[in-house]
Amino acid sequence: MSNADKLAIHGGSPVCAERIPESLHGVMEIGEPEKRAVMNVLEKKRVFRFYPEGLEDSEAAALERKYAERLGVRHTLAVSSGTGALVAGFAGLGLEPGDEVIIPAYTFIATPFSILANWLVPVLCEIDATMTMDTEHLRQCITPRTRAICPVHMRGFPCNMDEIMKIAEEHNLAVLEDVAQANGGSYKGKPLGTFGEVGCFSFQMYKIITAGEGGMVVMNDDRIFSRARTQQDCASRYWLNTQDEIYDVYGENYRICELCAALGLAQYERLDSLLDQFRHCKKRILAGLEGVNGIELAPSHDPEGDVGIAVMFYTESIEKSREFAQALDAEGIPCGTMYNKGIPDRHIFYYWPFVNQLPPDSRISPWNCGGKKSDVRYSPDMCPRTLDYLGRAITLNIHQKLTDSHCDWMVEAVRKVAKALF
Ligand SMILES: Cc1ncc(COP(=O)(O)O)c(C=O)c1O
Repeated sequence: MSNADKLAIHGGSPVCAERIPESLHGVMEIGEPEKRAVMNVLEKKRVFRFYPEGLEDSEAAALERKYAERLGVRHTLAVSSGTGALVAGFAGLGLEPGDEVIIPAYTFIATPFSILANWLVPVLCEIDATMTMDTEHLRQCITPRTRAICPVHMRGFPCNMDEIMKIAEEHNLAVLEDVAQANGGSYKGKPLGTFGEVGCFSFQMYKIITAGEGGMVVMNDDRIFSRARTQQDCASRYWLNTQDEIYDVYGENYRICELCAALGLAQYERLDSLLDQFRHCKKRILAGLEGVNGIELAPSHDPEGDVGIAVMFYTESIEKSREFAQALDAEGIPCGTMYNKGIPDRHIFYYWPFVNQLPPDSRISPWNCGGKKSDVRYSPDMCPRTLDYLGRAITLNIHQKLTDSHCDWMVEAVRKVAKALF
């Protein structure tokens, strides 16, 4: 073995001259425009959205207009978080307590919890190598009580929306897309979030752009909008003086603060340039990794629409992937496998509380309500393929601070480790 081939983990010289930087996305770009936008709200002393004079002048209303325009949808509701967006979105669908909603077994816990908050029952579907719902398994998850599908575009990877929409149509199911991790992504040229009845976005700090805290619900249907708006603000009818409220939901209050909305608006202006940078890096890395022995790149249902924040690949086994990730890390590339028993990652069904323990049968719950007892049961080993993919997946995180040299080092390091291990 030449010196250059000796792995850094075994005392060789690391590929990276300096460790590759880690970074979040939009939040790291906060600068003068964001400061000005927030200060402007403070100077105006208009920190509440529904101030009767100039309702349209609110920051939240402006953010809603941006998303309506970008996505080509009739209705948008800015809310206080991505979780709030999901709660409002599911409320918008007007489903009955105890109805079932199919979600992927790999998504942030906010997805199933927002379903439970609406007294609905989450049903877990396996993911496949694309990190998104396995549509073969999705078909098997459908029961007479299924009413909706919730595809989640995890790590910016678009779901197979053609197939999901086909299944939804065949079975008369609503579709609510969780776009929290894929803001700005698309599938075959159509923006994510616009395929089904509802799309839900998050502007939390770890997301592509941030409002500090915030979210957006997008939809076309007037009834869904009216119900979801009751969640955005339980007094929306009063503030807006409208007559269209629907009385089959009881609203809470997920209004976004004007300071957050102003920050979100300023960040919105950065969205496309951030996406360009991520996609440039991802393409460069993927091109460099073609044909590497021993690894399989995670396929994407639409490489053009993929947001580009993660390059993912698999080895043949969980053990091999851990060894690979450790070796890569020693070369100067921050990375790891996605499912490591012991790290309680709330994006993996295995760690969701209801999967490990349902409330007792005597208690009224989404699984036992309205005279209906649910047959849905969970266990930590119920989605073995999901755990296998997540255990074998190694992720290279992409962000705007990566230079072309960083990307090339990543490629070189993966090639070096693969050569040594396979
Ligand atoms: C897939 C997914 N759904 C929903 C959420 C919830 O968003 P938030 O943290 O803004 O409530 C998140 C992020 O945290 C997420 O990653």
